[in-house]
Amino acid sequence: MLSGLTAALIFRTLPGVCPVLSALPTRLRPADLLRITDQGASDVLDGRFDSVLPATYPTDERWSARLHSDDDLDVWLISWVPDRSTELHDHAGSIGALTVLSGSVAELRWTGESLRHRRLDAGDQASFPLGWVHDVMWAPEPASAARRPTLSVHAYSPPLTAMSYYEVTQQGSLRRTRSELTDTPEGDA
Ligand SMILES: [Fe+2]
Repeated sequence: MLSGLTAALIFRTLPGVCPVLSALPTRLRPADLLRITDQGASDVLDGRFDSVLPATYPTDERWSARLHSDDDLDVWLISWVPDRSTELHDHAGSIGALTVLSGSVAELRWTGESLRHRRLDAGDQASFPLGWVHDVMWAPEPASAARRPTLSVHAYSPPLTAMSYYEVTQQGSLRRTRSELTDTPEGDA
């Protein structure tokens, strides 16, 4: 059902991709993924995926839909709701990127020494190199009391196959608690 739309997405986004020699298991660069998520967000706003998206997004649970998948790439639309987080996690052998489509998210990222907070609002983007460990959660919109779900478009390359989860120990180091095979992004805690 998505083949025509997703093909259009990829043909619009990949012509500028320049394969590079890299140790990474993907021919795509973080900049490519940023551009792809930006195009995906634009396509969602333009209604190109309306046939597979809900009329209203659940307000009490996370929700996600795969917008595109091929050998190089997975693209997802994710909705974020209050009082949920992903736990600290990595994306195994995939690099990633996101564009916030509406609303806001907060991210806690492990810097190697501590957790660093940042906020991403509608229109903001972020990319995730290999080894990136973070927790992502819904955040209130700027200057608004609304608790609407936040929407963001994520891309992973190669497509996500596993995630590991972590905790910060009392000694202030990062400890892996478990690893899971999964092709579903940003797991719900
Ligand atoms: Fe993540």
